[in-house]
Amino acid sequence: MIDANSVEQVKEQTTQRIEAASSIDELENVRVGEFGKKGQFTLLMKGLKDVDSSSRKELGALLNKTKKELEQRLVQKRESLQEIEAAKALSSEWIDISMPVDVDPALNSFGSLHPVSLVRRELEEIFLGLGFSVVDGPEVEGEYYNFEALNIPSTHPARDLQDTFFTKMGSLLRTHTSTIQIRALENMEPPLRIVAPGRCFRCERLDASHEHTFYQMEGMMIDKVVNVGHLVYFLKTLLREIFGREVKVRLRPGYFPFVEPGFELDAWFQGKWMEMLGCGLVHPRVLEYGGIDPKKWQGFAFAVGLSRLAMLRYQIDDIRHMQAGDLRFLKQFS
Ligand code: PHE
Repeated sequence: MIDANSVEQVKEQTTQRIEAASSIDELENVRVGEFGKKGQFTLLMKGLKDVDSSSRKELGALLNKTKKELEQRLVQKRESLQEIEAAKALSSEWIDISMPVDVDPALNSFGSLHPVSLVRRELEEIFLGLGFSVVDGPEVEGEYYNFEALNIPSTHPARDLQDTFFTKMGSLLRTHTSTIQIRALENMEPPLRIVAPGRCFRCERLDASHEHTFYQMEGMMIDKVVNVGHLVYFLKTLLREIFGREVKVRLRPGYFPFVEPGFELDAWFQGKWMEMLGCGLVHPRVLEYGGIDPKKWQGFAFAVGLSRLAMLRYQIDDIRHMQAGDLRFLKQFS
């Protein structure tokens, strides 16, 4: 039979146990040991029903009061343990970021720029010097920017030329940097000159010259009078700067719905014509989509394959090296 004495005893024991707990886990064990289903204190509470009815009420009140006190102690103890554990974690997980790194000398510890980055940076410098600004656009695009506003309606067979990846939400991974033509026309006032380097994606059958992921740089110039002569001038300048010599070029008719006339530019390399880039005069409808009056303004646009250019420049024989992340390949450019 329980009485006030036994309550007092359990209270004292429990208090001692709480105070003795040295971690939150230990404290939790104490809590379960006292107040869990088979806990000491729970048993006391259960014993109440056997107590003589004359003293039951008084004893019940005592039990409740004691329980509250003990619970309060548990909370206090938990808080102080948490503080201690946090302080411990702070001091043991402290990192000295100024400490020199222990580098295995067998590894080349310095990174290097990717060949595509090297070519991109050089082209940016060249075009900045020619009065162009460098602009950017998103890799995940709407159909509108990748096709529609470039004069490629949804039923147009030219869409098949650039098979791409769609997201479940209906966006797509851009297939070319020409998307940025529209974005620039929307956001800038003519006259304007921009270049826009970026990563592009196509659903390709992979081989030494086709990758699902590759890099282009778009160029566009809008002014009162712009003709094919201007276009050829800038493209020849580009090639001369990159290859360090005059490069012989030719224009062939090329079909891109967003330029008229449209061309493929080939360059003479090691005894043969190499397809270098697509270009042309911006189609009046594209200017209209971009909110610009085609009666007042005209322009040229081109896109050079940065991956392709880097391959020619560094005599890389397989485009798949570009994405492979193989250090033996990458270290050659440091
Ligand atoms: N966007 C075209 C492609 O990737 C290239 C291009 C750009 C052609 C600008 C003409 C003008 O195939």
